[in-house]
Amino acid sequence: RNQKRRLECRPDIDSLTPSFLSIYNSLIPAEEEKAKQKRLILSLEKLVVKEWPDAKLYIYGSCANSFGVSNCDIDVCLAIECDGTSKSEILTKLADILQSENLQNVQALTHARVPIVKLMDPTTGISCDICINNLLAVVNTKLLKDYAQIDGRLRQLAFIVKHWAKSRGVNETYRGTLSSYAYVLMCIHFLQQRRPAILPCLQEMEATYEVTVDEVECLYFDQVEKLKNFGARNNESIGRLLWEFFDYWAYRHDYANAVISIRTGGFISKREKDWTRRIGNDRHLICIEDPFEVSHDLGRVVDKYSIKVLREEFERAADIMQYDPNPSVMLFEPY
Ligand code: GTP
Ligand code: MG
Repeated sequence: RNQKRRLECRPDIDSLTPSFLSIYNSLIPAEEEKAKQKRLILSLEKLVVKEWPDAKLYIYGSCANSFGVSNCDIDVCLAIECDGTSKSEILTKLADILQSENLQNVQALTHARVPIVKLMDPTTGISCDICINNLLAVVNTKLLKDYAQIDGRLRQLAFIVKHWAKSRGVNETYRGTLSSYAYVLMCIHFLQQRRPAILPCLQEMEATYEVTVDEVECLYFDQVEKLKNFGARNNESIGRLLWEFFDYWAYRHDYANAVISIRTGGFISKREKDWTRRIGNDRHLICIEDPFEVSHDLGRVVDKYSIKVLREEFERAADIMQYDPNPSVMLFEPY
């Protein structure tokens, strides 16, 4: 594969930027949509607090981490003291409450890997998944959102990469490809590696934010308004960054040995993490370290079939970026 590695980028790469930016702009959710989401959360919170006065609702996932496209579902976390009551009992009770309040398609999925209640708000058409006490997801949502504030190119790159992954069918964890969360981590890591760097490594800086969740210490520098000019010395365009991103994952990443880690701002060896062989269902064929749950490889869902699909898609994208006269069409061709 390395023999196919290209050394030179097409000369007109920067001229591709406007077409990608117009796709990015078409994916951004309208302000009005954000307002509707907020109203729905507030009304859900009222219902929840009536039953559990100390409970709180948090929004997490793409509609809170700034990587959400329009019309995405909202991910909500109910933070609640369980003392003795099981999560399934709480979810069943919650489903009953929501059902009696005119919300539609209410379903408690108590046996799912992450148990949730699903619902749809008939007035706005917004769908929502509520899970219980998944507070690490709330914290990693904040980390992603903070990174997005530092340099606008992260949000642009991640929107386009997510849009590509959805169009090409490689954003489906149940079929062995990567989650949206994993793709955003790949984008952050990639921008940390540019020279000059476009993003810093917030977890290596002096901690200004500190919480302990499920015995995991989460520490990082979150005063990101002070880092607004961080990436200014690097003026790479979105066209070029996309080219580099796909070229990297197609031809240059060391799948056999390397783990990408936004926590350290670089690479760790698979050997150091003991991710060199299959353990249970985790195969570690592409390794993406979770920034807080460091024993957690976001690539664990990828199996020996889907790794091939994934790498072929990276190569296809890299080749389109290099040779296609109008890559912003072919790149997103439905699979
Ligand atoms: P879309 O819904 O596809 O737009 O993206 P999303 O950002 O909502 O991503 P996804 O559905 O993959 O995950 C929702 C949120 O759950 C993420 O933003 C993370 O906060 C969290 N999350 C997802 N997968 C993991 C995981 O494996 N570990 C942890 N700790 N959190 C995860
Ligand atoms: Mg989501």
